[in-house]
Amino acid sequence: MKVAAVTAPAATQLAAEGIAKSYPGVQALAPISFTVSPGERVALAGPSGSGKTTLLYLLAGLLQPDSGRLCIEGQDLTAMRPGKELARLVGMVHQQFDLVGSLPVVHNVLAGRLGQWSLASSAMSLIWPRERRLAQEALERLGIADKLNQRTSKLSGGEQQRVAIARLMVQSPRIILADEPVSSLDPALAEEMMRLLVELVEDSGKTLIASLHSPYLIKKYCSRVIGLRRGQVQFDLPAAELTEAVLDRLYDLKAERI
Ligand SMILES: Nc1ncnc2c1ncn2[C@@H]1O[C@H](COP(=O)(O)OP(=O)(O)OP(=O)(O)O)[C@@H](O)[C@H]1O
Ligand SMILES: [Mg+2]
Repeated sequence: MKVAAVTAPAATQLAAEGIAKSYPGVQALAPISFTVSPGERVALAGPSGSGKTTLLYLLAGLLQPDSGRLCIEGQDLTAMRPGKELARLVGMVHQQFDLVGSLPVVHNVLAGRLGQWSLASSAMSLIWPRERRLAQEALERLGIADKLNQRTSKLSGGEQQRVAIARLMVQSPRIILADEPVSSLDPALAEEMMRLLVELVEDSGKTLIASLHSPYLIKKYCSRVIGLRRGQVQFDLPAAELTEAVLDRLYDLKAERI
C-alpha cells in the first residue's frame, strides 16, 4: 500500500527556546525563542544595547543563558564545555577580527584548528606550524597566500579580514556567527567582507548569523532579518520584506528626529 507523501518540515539546525540573559541591573535579553534552518543567512538588527552581542555570545557558547535551552544539531549547548565539540558547531568572527598582531599570519589562521587539536599539538604548532598546507590553501582561496609568514599586524585592514575568514575556513564550523563584521570597514571592504562570508557559507552549506545595520547589506546578502529591541524580538522577516518603515520603528528614528 502506498503511503501519502507528507511534506517534511524544514530541518531545524538551531533551536533557541526561551533563552534569557541578565547582567546586574540590566535584562539584556528577555526570554526569546526562534529556530534557524541549515543554510539560512540571518541578520540581527537593532539599536545599541538591544542585545545583539549578548545573543551572539549565547549562540557561541561564550555566555550561558540564565534560563531556557539552546540546541544546535540536536546537541544542548548549555551542557557543552567550550572546546573541540563546540568549535565544530559554531565559530565566531569578532568586530576587530581578534587576531594576534605579533604572530605570523599562519598561526592566526591555524588558531581555527585549536578546537580540533590536543593541547600538546597546539603548543607545538607555535614552533612548527602543523597543517601548514591547510592554512596555505585557505589563504590561496582568498588571494593572499604570499602573506603566510608575514607578521599579522603588518597587513592592511582588508588583508586582516581575509585572515579572519581563513581562520574560519580551517575551523569549518556548521554555524558562523559574526558580530558587526563590517562596522569598522569602509563601504568597499564592508561589501567584500559580506561577499567572503556568504561565499564561505554557501560553498559548504553552512549557516550565517550576523549583526548588521545596513539595510542594503542585509537585503543583498541575507535571507532573513531578526529585529531586536530592548532584548526582545520586534520582528522576524524574510530580508526582502525589510522596509524603511520597519527599520525606522526598530531604531526609533522618528522619535530622534523630533
Ligand atoms: N558584561 C556586561 N555587564 C553588564 N552589562 C552588560 C554587559 N554586556 C552587555 N551589557 C548590557 O546589556 C545590554 C545589551 O548589550 P549588548 O552588548 O548585547 O547590546 P548590542 O545590541 O550588542 O549593542 P551594540 O549595538 O552597542 O553593540 C546593554 O544594556 C548593555 O549595557
Ligand atoms: Mg554589540
